[in-house]
Amino acid sequence: MISVTGRRFHLGGKQYSYVFEADAAGYLLHLYFGPRIADEDVSYLAAPSFLSFSPMPPDAVSADFSLDTAPQEYGSYGQGDFRRPAVLYRTKGGRASNFRYMGYEICDNAVPEVLPHVRGGRTLKIFLRDTRADVSVTLFYTVNEDSDVLVRHAEIAAGENITVERVFSFSLDLPAGEYDVLRLHGRHLAERIPCRTPLGYGLCRIGSERGASSHQMNPFLALMEKGAAEDYGNVYGFGLIYSGSFALEAERGQTDIRVQGGISDVGFSWELAAGEKFTAPQAMLAYSSAGMGGLSRVYADFLRAHILPPERVYAPRPIVINNWEATYFDFDTPALCRLIDEAAELGMDTFVLDDGWFGARSDDHRALGDWQVNTKKLAGGLGPLIEHCKKRGMKFGLWFEPEMISEDSDLFRAHPDWAVGVEPRCKSRDQYVLDFSRPEIVDFIYGRMADILGRHEISYVKWDMNRHLTEFCSQASSGREGEFAHRYMLGVYALAERLERNFPAVFFEGCSGGGGRFDAGMLYYFPQFWTSDDTDAFERAKIQWGTSYAYPMSAMSCHVSACPNHQTGRVTPLAARGHIASLGATGYELDLNKLSAEEKEAVKAQIRAYRATEDLILRGDLYRLLDPFEGNYFAEIAVSKDKTRAYLVGMTARAVPSDYNRRIRLKGLEENKRYHVRELGLTLHGSTLMHAGLLLPKQHDYETWAWHIEEA
Ligand code: DGJ
Repeated sequence: MISVTGRRFHLGGKQYSYVFEADAAGYLLHLYFGPRIADEDVSYLAAPSFLSFSPMPPDAVSADFSLDTAPQEYGSYGQGDFRRPAVLYRTKGGRASNFRYMGYEICDNAVPEVLPHVRGGRTLKIFLRDTRADVSVTLFYTVNEDSDVLVRHAEIAAGENITVERVFSFSLDLPAGEYDVLRLHGRHLAERIPCRTPLGYGLCRIGSERGASSHQMNPFLALMEKGAAEDYGNVYGFGLIYSGSFALEAERGQTDIRVQGGISDVGFSWELAAGEKFTAPQAMLAYSSAGMGGLSRVYADFLRAHILPPERVYAPRPIVINNWEATYFDFDTPALCRLIDEAAELGMDTFVLDDGWFGARSDDHRALGDWQVNTKKLAGGLGPLIEHCKKRGMKFGLWFEPEMISEDSDLFRAHPDWAVGVEPRCKSRDQYVLDFSRPEIVDFIYGRMADILGRHEISYVKWDMNRHLTEFCSQASSGREGEFAHRYMLGVYALAERLERNFPAVFFEGCSGGGGRFDAGMLYYFPQFWTSDDTDAFERAKIQWGTSYAYPMSAMSCHVSACPNHQTGRVTPLAARGHIASLGATGYELDLNKLSAEEKEAVKAQIRAYRATEDLILRGDLYRLLDPFEGNYFAEIAVSKDKTRAYLVGMTARAVPSDYNRRIRLKGLEENKRYHVRELGLTLHGSTLMHAGLLLPKQHDYETWAWHIEEA
C-alpha cells in the first residue's frame, strides 16, 4: 500500500505501517514504523521538542524546531543534527547539507539497474533538495502487498561537482525506548552466530571493511523491543541487498534511535561531476509482531518471492556429489569416474568438480585465472568426464573462482597489472584479487568462463571467493581509490548477471570460503549458497540455526561429509549428518567408495527421504524450537504453508543420563487439526503437540531424530 494524503505518506504491506511526512517547512520527518495503524494524521508524533543547546536551522519556520531532535527520514549534516548523517558530501561550500521536500512520484518498481534488487512492487519516490548546494537526493520506497518488507534505497544527483563521502541506503529515527540488538557475527567455519545485546546509548555499528559482506559480520541487524523473544514481541529487521563492505548502525541518543546503513563509508568517496548521480544499494526493512521467529519467516518469504532467481527458487534442487572433501586436489579422471559411479548408484544427480581442474593447479598456491582444463589430470579434458556422467544419468557441475588470480599463473605473468593493489600487497590463501573494477578484466573472465560453459554440457557452477580485499585500489587507478570497493562489486554483479542471462540452463551456487558472502545481494543471482566449510553436523546445526534468522532454508547449501570430520575431527552418526543436511539444499561431499554397504543403503534412504520432504524446505515456514546456543538440544520444524505437513529435526549434543521426560513443544501447526507423527505412531491435535508437546527421545552424543508429521 502506498497512500498519500497531502504531504503525508503511509506505506504498508501485510501487517506493518510506515509513515512519514514533509512538514510545512519541507523537512521530511519520520513518524511511525510498526504494526498496521489507521491511515490518519499522526503528525503529533513529531511535535517539536527543542532542548537546551539545540540549534535552530537558519531558515527555521518555528522557534522550537531543531534538527537536533526532529525524527528524520534521511539525516543531514551540519545544520544542527548531531546524529550521524545518512549522507555526507563535500561541495565547494563545505559539507553542510539541509534537505527540503520537493515532491513525490509513484511508479512501478523503480530499481537500481546495475545492482541486485527487489523483483516486483510499487515504488514511491521522494525528491529532496539541498538548500545549501546544487544537490538532490531521491529516496525510493518499494512496497509489496504480500510482504512485510519495505525496500529502501537512495540516489544522489549533483548539479555541481561534489565528493560524496557517505550515502546510505536508508535512515530512520525510531522512538526512544529499550531495544535489544541482534546481529550475526562469525568467522571462517563458524558463520552467522546470533548475538543479542541491549542497545545502550551511543553508536552500535556493525559492518565489514573486507570488500565482501564477510564471514565475520552478516549485513543484517534486528532491533527487538524489550521483552520480545523468539515467538512474540515487536521486532524490526534491517538487511542489505549488497555483498560488499557495508555498515549498519543503530545510534541511541537523547531523543530517539537512528537506524541506518548501506555501503561502508570507511575509505569510501565518490566523485560526482555536475549532472552525474550515484545509486546506493537497496535495504530491506522488515517488521514482525511475532518475535524473531516471525521476522525470520517474513524475510524467508520475501527473499523467496522477491529476490532469489524466480525460475529456480521453488524447483527441486540438484543433489550433488562434490569431490572437494573426497579428493581435494588429488584426482584424475578414473578416480572421479569411480566417485560418479557410486554417486549415481546411491541416487545423487549432479557431479560437481571442485577446485583443481585447471591450469597447473596442483595445490592452492597457483593457477587461479588459468581457466583451461588441466589435461594431465583430466585426460582428454572435461569431455570424457561429462560423457561418463551422462552414461550414469548424472549431470555435471564445475567450480570457478572468477575473481582471483595467483601470482604463479599464466594470467599474472601476462597481466601483472590485473591484480588489485600496488606492491607491496598482501596475499591471502596465496592469491591476489583480480581487478573487477575494470570492465575489460570482467569481460576477459566472462570470455574464459563462457568458452568452457559454451563448449561443454555443464548444468551447475559453483562460484567461490576465497580471500578478502586488502589494498583498495586499481593499478589503473585514476586516483579515485574511494570508489574502488564499490566498483569492484559492480564488476562482480555484472559478471554474475551476464552469466545467468547467457547460460539460463546453468544452476549457479554461491560460495565464499564457506559462507563468507551469504547475503541477499548474492542470493539474487544464486538460489543457494554454500553455508559454511564446516560440515560437522553439530557445528552445522548451529550455523544453519543462525543463518535462518535472516535467510530461507532453501538458500543454505548443506552437505553430508566424512567422519572424523575434516574441520573438527568430531565423529557424528551418518544419520545425524543426513538429518542436519536435510534442513537445506542437501548434497554429499565425501569419498563414497569408502562407505560400507550398510552406509550406502543409509545414504540411498536419506536421498529418498530428502526428496519426500524437499517441498517443505523449499516452500515451508521454519520455526526454531530448541536453541543449540542456549542448551543441549537443537530442533527446528518446517511446516507447509497449508499446515497439513511438517518435518522436524532435532539433535542431542551431549547424552544426559537419566534426564527423562523432557518435552519439546512443536510450533506452527494448526491447533484444531489432528496430526500423525509417523516415527512415534501418535495421532494428536495440533494444540496437544504445541502445548503439551512430545517427549524428547533418549539419545547418545550428537544423535539426531526426525519426525514426519502429517494431517491425519
Ligand atoms: C572453499 C570452499 O568453501 C570449498 O567448498 C572448496 O570449494 C574450496 N574453497 C576449494 O578451494
